[in-house]
Amino acid sequence: MKIFSSSLGPIYSGDVRDGLKKVIDDHQPLSVFIICDENTARCCVPKIEYLVDNPRIIVTKSGEQNKNLETCKYIWSALIEKGADRDSIILNVGGGVVCDMGGFAAACFQRGIRFGHIPTTLLSMSDASIGGKLGVDYKGFKNYIGLIQNPSFIWIDPSFLETLPPLEITSGMAEIVKHAIIGSQPLWDIVSGVKTINELNWAEIFEENIAVKVKIVESDLREQGLRKVLNFGHTIGHALESFYLASRNPVTHGQCVAIGMLTESRIAVSMGLLNSADFESITQVISRLLSPEVVSLPGVEMVLPWIGGDKKKSKGRVGFSLPDKIGSCGWDIPVEENAIIESFEWVRAQVKSVPFR
Ligand SMILES: NC(=O)c1ccc[n+]([C@@H]2O[C@H](COP(=O)([O-])OP(=O)(O)OC[C@H]3O[C@@H](n4cnc5c(N)ncnc54)[C@H](O)[C@@H]3O)[C@@H](O)[C@H]2O)c1
Repeated sequence: MKIFSSSLGPIYSGDVRDGLKKVIDDHQPLSVFIICDENTARCCVPKIEYLVDNPRIIVTKSGEQNKNLETCKYIWSALIEKGADRDSIILNVGGGVVCDMGGFAAACFQRGIRFGHIPTTLLSMSDASIGGKLGVDYKGFKNYIGLIQNPSFIWIDPSFLETLPPLEITSGMAEIVKHAIIGSQPLWDIVSGVKTINELNWAEIFEENIAVKVKIVESDLREQGLRKVLNFGHTIGHALESFYLASRNPVTHGQCVAIGMLTESRIAVSMGLLNSADFESITQVISRLLSPEVVSLPGVEMVLPWIGGDKKKSKGRVGFSLPDKIGSCGWDIPVEENAIIESFEWVRAQVKSVPFR
């Protein structure tokens, strides 16, 4: 087991059998709750529950469409029925949906009880569990209701990836690629240096990936400046994700972010911020992550209205985070609507010709 210490709280990585029990016991909880969904209840909780005395398990329905206040109400009712109080601790065992929503439910319950994240998808190990953003979707808009609070600890056990469907692996890679583009040439060298995901060494990736995310969040927890670079790919990505959710055809967050990064990189080129050689290698790496889920993207007119609703709006306008080279990114950049339209349509035409595996 390895520990990454930071002001965001300890991040442990390694097999949960190698120390998770002690980490939980050190918090001296009077009761331990596990929040999971039906998939992680089956694939991941069995590896954890026996480490805990009398775990009280709350199973939610999986999927972005269930990341909402209704599910929070279900969690809060279950916490009351099963006797949770301020001396309890909640373990969020799942992907980004469970971590975001379980953390939010914990942070609001009785004005806040302790929680730890045990992320089980690549996306939640590399991104969603780190940085304290908690919340749920509301009226179709992504993460509209929420708050920022760091968990008591995070435990990353890559062995949970063994049961993760391949689509979820490629989707999770999107956030790792994002971290490389916005802040780490060494991470970029790793992700661009392989032809297939199977060649990657997770321990090596997580070490560099955690370092990038933690450094950015530590310097700007409340997202007043630098942290906005983490939104690269998300202004378009969230708009696309909201569109798909509203059309009752959810597409994974990571796939939407991948399309968002392609579009926003193209915008950066059209504004003279990013050079075409970097854009070419970004396009190559991201194209390898795309799945047939996004083969036929909606027309830009279907996506534009959701961009206006993105909560990253400030003083009435949407500021984009755009890379200026690999490893470096600006933020709060105003973008003309024409550049969004042209770039999205370019990406829409490109993905039709991606040779999906
Ligand atoms: N808080 C943040 O900073 C942040 C950052 C990025 C993304 N997010 C959020 O994360 C969410 C997406 O997270 P996600 O991609 O992990 O999706 P997810 O939580 O929906 O998980 C994807 C699917 O994998 C299943 N699953 C999870 N672990 C498994 C395992 N080990 N084996 C088999 N199946 C497993 C889940 O049940 C689900 O069906 C979005 O809601 C997004 O907004 C948050």
